[in-house]
Amino acid sequence: MQIRNGLRMLAHPGQLYEAFTRSQLYRSVIRNPWPTNARTRALAVMGSVFLHLQPTRTRPEAIKITYTWGLGGISFLFFLILTLTGVLLMFYYVPQVPLAYQNMLDLQGSVSFGQLMRNMHRWAAHGMVIVVFLHMCRVFYTGSYRPPREFNRIVGVILLVLTFLLSFTGYLLPWDQLSYWAVTVGTNMVGSTPFLGGLVQFLLLGDKTVGQNTLIRFYTLHVIALPLLLSLFLSVHFWRIRKDGFSRGL
Ligand code: HEM
Repeated sequence: MQIRNGLRMLAHPGQLYEAFTRSQLYRSVIRNPWPTNARTRALAVMGSVFLHLQPTRTRPEAIKITYTWGLGGISFLFFLILTLTGVLLMFYYVPQVPLAYQNMLDLQGSVSFGQLMRNMHRWAAHGMVIVVFLHMCRVFYTGSYRPPREFNRIVGVILLVLTFLLSFTGYLLPWDQLSYWAVTVGTNMVGSTPFLGGLVQFLLLGDKTVGQNTLIRFYTLHVIALPLLLSLFLSVHFWRIRKDGFSRGL
């Protein structure tokens, strides 16, 4: 009997579709019908994690491209590209002094799309530093740091510092002359800071000079600690934008 019913439904695709949309499985994924009025639209927004991330109301002029220049969004796009290419790079890179530099050469010479992956990571990193800085300038220029957004501006400054730190820690990983000396100079500058400078320099290096201990510390900071912190503060940043709304016209 059931087989005959099933076959009958197959003969009528419309009925099959209707039975599918009424099934428990379908309704556990798609909870609301297609929104056709204000109520069902509100239900759809509240039931979707992605739509729910948007502010409840936005004035059209606030998201004009010539107001934000999309700089916050572009920064986030760079972060996504960096995460994706960074995970792919982790498949090949070993943070050990005798291996790191050779890994980079092998990645470029022997791995399919290896050079592309590495270049995308590097250029997206440069891009993110520049664009986050420009985004901060835009926030300053349009006065978007004023209340009630002063808290989000502070979260933004933390994001800027984390972006710089990600860039700095990543710079050592290829383990070439440029990265070795850049980190030597950078950490010596930290060491010259009065009072705690020497201690922080030693904590960063894990030694008196740049070596294996430094490489593993920078690697751990670069691939785990800093991206996690950045993701955490990004969530707070986006949540505040949603709560405060965009600044234009206020
Ligand atoms: C990883 C770094 C960052 C990302 C991904 C990011 C992302 C965003 C996005 C997507 C927006 C929405 C509108 C837009 O595109 O401008 C925004 C707004 C905002 N951001 Fe950022 N941001 C970052 C860093 C910063 C920094 C460094 C500051 C300031 C010091 C800052 C302060 C703000 C403020 C105050 C707003 C609200 C602007 C308004 O309402 O007009 N953000 N951010």
